[in-house]
Amino acid sequence: MKVLVTGAAGFIGSHVVERLLKEGHEVTGVDCFEVYYSRSQKEKNLMPVLLHPKFKLVEDNLSTMALIKVLKGAEVVVHLAAQPGVRGSWGSSFHRYITNNIQVTQKLLEESKSNKLKRFVYASSSSVYGEIQPQPGEEIAVLNEEMMCKPRSPYGVTKLAAENLCQLYHQEYKMPTVSLRFFSVYGPGQRPDMAFNRFCHSILHDAALTIYGDGKQIRDFTYVEDVAEIVTAAVTSEAAVGQVVNVGGGSPAALMEAVTILEEISGKTCPKTFLERQKGDVFSTRADTTRLEKIFGIKPKTSLREGLARQWEWMRKFVQAEDDEQTIKAQVQPITGVDEAGIAEVKAYEKAAKKAARKAKAGKPTKATLAGESHDTASETQTTESDG
Ligand code: NAD
Ligand code: UGA
Repeated sequence: MKVLVTGAAGFIGSHVVERLLKEGHEVTGVDCFEVYYSRSQKEKNLMPVLLHPKFKLVEDNLSTMALIKVLKGAEVVVHLAAQPGVRGSWGSSFHRYITNNIQVTQKLLEESKSNKLKRFVYASSSSVYGEIQPQPGEEIAVLNEEMMCKPRSPYGVTKLAAENLCQLYHQEYKMPTVSLRFFSVYGPGQRPDMAFNRFCHSILHDAALTIYGDGKQIRDFTYVEDVAEIVTAAVTSEAAVGQVVNVGGGSPAALMEAVTILEEISGKTCPKTFLERQKGDVFSTRADTTRLEKIFGIKPKTSLREGLARQWEWMRKFVQAEDDEQTIKAQVQPITGVDEAGIAEVKAYEKAAKKAARKAKAGKPTKATLAGESHDTASETQTTESDG
């Protein structure tokens, strides 16, 4: 199928593109390389697919571009582009969340509502739930899709708003939408603001790990390739149409448990700096996967240890390459000072040459012709005479 993937250069987007291509789909990716994190990381994300004959990348901003450019011919839209990040969504940067999460989703839905799409897959988030209290008999709340959502962060508010928009377009325009609520995704290519990326970075530089709160918070960590597999299944699954589905259930663990596993994998123990809990952070997320398994017949299978080992390997290479780049940059001597005398000499030479050219054009003898060319002219004349 012809699939449009928004946010294709991002962490999850690039894995989804790779998976879709493996399954034989034709993919157009669109991404504006938002400055939220480095362009070079996103370019590296795309390396494995850039030369694939069935992949095309359009670099543009969905909020300002003419969407017809990418929607024409698309049978499926996988909408992953967004401004992510729970803790960064407070304060003055909120306008980015409104534009990239709410307005862009509305624009895509509106402009594709009469295109007879076969599927519109939206990347929702566990952040829409907020802090749900455990049911009697539960140690931590198991989140199911029927629960009332009360986001705790401005980010969660925008992700829920866009999810609601998808539901509305499904109800009123029969758009075949499906919203997948991803739970803390990790693995190679993870965004640099996320916990495991930051921890690996600190371990590699022998720096202290920053832990927000007491580290007992629980996340249903989900490996990125498992997420890509489910997104790809949603592209063709009829049963998914009109649904909201949790994509989690990989490896629920307390943050400090994950840190211990990472230290075992890396063979290093680092000091930890405990800072206060961040606004917007919930205590726990844990997905009920009943609906996921019923619709797709699959659920995330990668264990936290296995997934973290793969992320660690990727981070080692990525950070090494970044550090090498920095070292080279630091060694290159900047050019300081200007050779004023040299510049004046070149300018004088150019001026004289121009003057000589003008005079030569006008047929006047110049110092140059008199001094140099006259010799050639004389010998030419001699040759002509002897020939005759
Ligand atoms: P990411 O930042 O790595 O990827 C998002 C991509 O979208 C970026 O490459 C960015 O340049 C692009 N983008 C943003 N605004 C755009 C615009 N206006 N036009 C064109 N491109 C634009 O983030 P990610 O972690 O890969 O997240 C992907 C999606 O999954 C997001 O919708 C996010 O809310 C959702 N999600 C992520 C997680 C997670 O744990 N990473 C969990 C739940 C939900
Ligand atoms: C992640 C993504 O960043 C969101 O985009 C996504 O929507 C969300 O998952 C989701 O599941 O909905 P989060 O769970 O906060 O958000 O993931 P991380 O950034 O990996 O943080 C996990 C935990 O580690 C949080 O409690 C956070 O406060 C903590 N943390 C993070 C630290 O203790 N130290 C750090 O340096 C970074």
